Amino acid sequence: MFKTIEYVDGVVRMIDQTKLPLEKLYVDCRTVEEVGRAIKTMVIRGAPAIGVAAAMGISLAAESIQADDFGAFYPLLEERCAELGKSRPTAVNLAWAIDRMKRVAKDHKGMGIASLKDRLKREALAIYEEDIAANRAMGEFGQALVPDGSAALTHCNAGALATAGFGTALGVIRAAVNAGKRVRVLANETRPFLQGARLTVWELKEDGIPVKLITDNMCGFFMKKKQIDLVVVGADRIAANGDVANKIGTYMVAVMAREHDIPFYVAAPISTLDLSLPTGDEIPIEERSPDEVAFINNKRIAPEGVEVAHPAFDVTPNRLVSAIITEKGIALPPYAESLARLAGKK
Ligand code: MRU
Repeated sequence: MFKTIEYVDGVVRMIDQTKLPLEKLYVDCRTVEEVGRAIKTMVIRGAPAIGVAAAMGISLAAESIQADDFGAFYPLLEERCAELGKSRPTAVNLAWAIDRMKRVAKDHKGMGIASLKDRLKREALAIYEEDIAANRAMGEFGQALVPDGSAALTHCNAGALATAGFGTALGVIRAAVNAGKRVRVLANETRPFLQGARLTVWELKEDGIPVKLITDNMCGFFMKKKQIDLVVVGADRIAANGDVANKIGTYMVAVMAREHDIPFYVAAPISTLDLSLPTGDEIPIEERSPDEVAFINNKRIAPEGVEVAHPAFDVTPNRLVSAIITEKGIALPPYAESLARLAGKK
């Protein structure tokens, strides 16, 4: 088994997701700037994994700060947090993890700098452990929705690679398999970054879970043939009303699922909820490089000079979402109430 990310002896080590599945290489980050670069360039990606990496990066930043008291230490930590916060805009887990680390620093300002650095390291490791526990809990709740003998479609990679381990959407599949159910997965390749073809297929194969790779434009074909029984995807940010931002193409899958009366499930931890945003319209959508669309494997596939668009995420409106699976339980419509309740707000 592989580790997506770990933090040992002052080094944050990540499996390089830009190289999978052809090469299994690891990248070592020794500074918060290196962690920020790894997030930006998608060495590590997936909302919860980005959050975990950010927390570890802030611990690295704290370790590097030379200061004798909190008054000198904290502004420098805040500066590095602000810079790291700019690395990717859509997954709210990044801001969530940064805020949590800042809060811990402020809550322990009296403890002395050496102890505070240790405390921040422990917090980063706690965020890592909690993410795995959340995924396992989500899996237990979610697997009840997966019938024995069913075929589940997924989009992008919401697996062990996108989290500290086990996965959100793929965690639901893993839990169903662990419960003795026979489940097959259809994986959308997920143009343009190919998280489905490169990552989802790779990690399911490693686990021996049956998986079939399809291109994104094939899912309607298989739905019409009744070869897909449910859809389960992850999320990068979920607004208070249950609108879901996830990898570009997710919205299209949700529309197709509704047309064919197929349940469309989203699995995401509470840290992916952004109850400060009333609807998905307010979610910032990352625009990535046109080259990721115009080139495949460094080979140009479109005429030079052509205009290219590359929004990396889309928003699926809540009316198309059958249920949202969290580690606290399953939210059903109306989401404004059910999500607030699960998040402990009501
Ligand atoms: O651009 P990416 O690869 O970071 O996008 C990832 C996704 O859209 C995932 O589905 C989402 O982060 C959930 S991961 C558990």
